[in-house]
Amino acid sequence: MKLISQNFSDLYEPNIEMKKFPDGDNYICLPEIGGNSAEVYHRLYPEQDSAIMQAILILDTLKRKKIEAILVSPYFPYSRQDKTFKGGEAISAEVISDLIRYAGAKKLITVDCHFLKKEGTFTYGGLEIVNLSANKLLVEHAKKLAGDVEVISPDMGASYLVEDFGGKSMEKKRGEYVEGETAYRKIEEVKMDFEVNGKNILILDDMISTGGTMFKAIENVKKGGAAKVLCAATHGFFLKGSLDKLKQACDHVFVTDSIPSPVSDVSIKELLDSSCSS
Ligand code: R5P
Repeated sequence: MKLISQNFSDLYEPNIEMKKFPDGDNYICLPEIGGNSAEVYHRLYPEQDSAIMQAILILDTLKRKKIEAILVSPYFPYSRQDKTFKGGEAISAEVISDLIRYAGAKKLITVDCHFLKKEGTFTYGGLEIVNLSANKLLVEHAKKLAGDVEVISPDMGASYLVEDFGGKSMEKKRGEYVEGETAYRKIEEVKMDFEVNGKNILILDDMISTGGTMFKAIENVKKGGAAKVLCAATHGFFLKGSLDKLKQACDHVFVTDSIPSPVSDVSIKELLDSSCSS
């Protein structure tokens, strides 16, 4: 049986009652469940901390009913914190994976999980993770917009997204954390050592957050004489007003609906459905 969260209502008909208590605590009530297994479609973003808590409450309720659960969440928050940069930092990616497993998930189905860096089934922090990729869907969409495109990634971490298309990768170097309340490591350099002159270029990444990576990559390919420049990612946050700026900086910007946005032009619904049984 499919259990659908309210935060997936753009793609599926929700059937989980989800509210907030007056103090902000999450309230969850599951429908009557036939059978002994369930696929829980619940996004873990935006408001990731609350969304993770909602997932834990749903999974635990199923566990108490002895119902086997698979969590389907296309974006996995905290996935960029899978290693430490300096002593004393939390390895948050493992913590969240552990929490989801302890709560009762048999496995997690997700899309372009940052720390896995390839498609397939993995065990991480004790959790079985099926990592799907939206790369083919994004490239298909780029071809509809611009015809022939050469697909490149703005850093080595995203190279697996472009390898299927014979794509090359730039090299990104991050520096120290910037001063202030936000934990952000400045991008020092995005190096490109290949030719793009006269070609239509699709820059493909797993996510666009502040847009800093994409801006540097767009600058590189423009300097290199690219004809059309498209930028795309599986997950689009578009923080700090970066969507408008990116639209101005290149010919097309688009992402999937893993996180709904005004440029979520590629749907992952079929990709998710094809990996689930019911
Ligand atoms: C990091 O390695 C990721 O793959 C993305 O390149 C990064 O998170 C994008 O962040 P931003 O848009 O802030 O540069």
